[in-house]
Amino acid sequence: MPCKSELIRKIENIVKDKMSGLPPSHNFSHVDRVRRLALELGKELNADLEVLELASLLHDIGLKGELLGEGDHATISARIARELLAGKIDGDKLEKILDAIENHRYSSGRRPKYLEGLILQDADRLDALGAVGIARVFTSAKANTREFYNPEDPFWETNRKLDDKEFALDHFYTKLLKLEEIMNTEPGRKEAKRRTKFMIHFLDELKREVMGWNSNR
Ligand SMILES: [Fe+2]
Ligand SMILES: [Fe+2]
Repeated sequence: MPCKSELIRKIENIVKDKMSGLPPSHNFSHVDRVRRLALELGKELNADLEVLELASLLHDIGLKGELLGEGDHATISARIARELLAGKIDGDKLEKILDAIENHRYSSGRRPKYLEGLILQDADRLDALGAVGIARVFTSAKANTREFYNPEDPFWETNRKLDDKEFALDHFYTKLLKLEEIMNTEPGRKEAKRRTKFMIHFLDELKREVMGWNSNR
């Protein structure tokens, strides 16, 4: 691994500090995995790796602000990133970083303008999938207050309204199993398909354990 630049090291320490105390699903370990994923995709797609690394590190730095009711964390993160990076990197790189951060969020439905932003969005989505994705569903801030699944219909086999605030398993159906369809890049889509397949296998196994292996349900 190449020697980290002074700026990256400094930003990394600030992010670790700012995100301490957040639930395991959204703390620095998430950021670190997103960075690794983004760099892997970025190498395949010839992206600007410095832009990608800084954007990944800073994309969720505003999460605590959002929890405190200060607004959307993507907007807060972009504001903090501007404060930290202005004058320390080229203007065109800063523009790409801020656009990537501002538009990374799944629920915003926005599309970043530059390749690096599209890659960050894919990396962030990939971390919601696969073995890590499953672990994150059950370690998020909501984990202590919501049920594992709806006891009447755990695997969404009726046309009931999904409620992932109430039932953790509903989150697979409201969001996670749909992510592979909206990936931006080819390598991102390929990895999302692999991870989604693993999640479906998990759901099949869970169904067997919850409903019984002789059950047709
Ligand atoms: Fe985020
Ligand atoms: Fe994130």
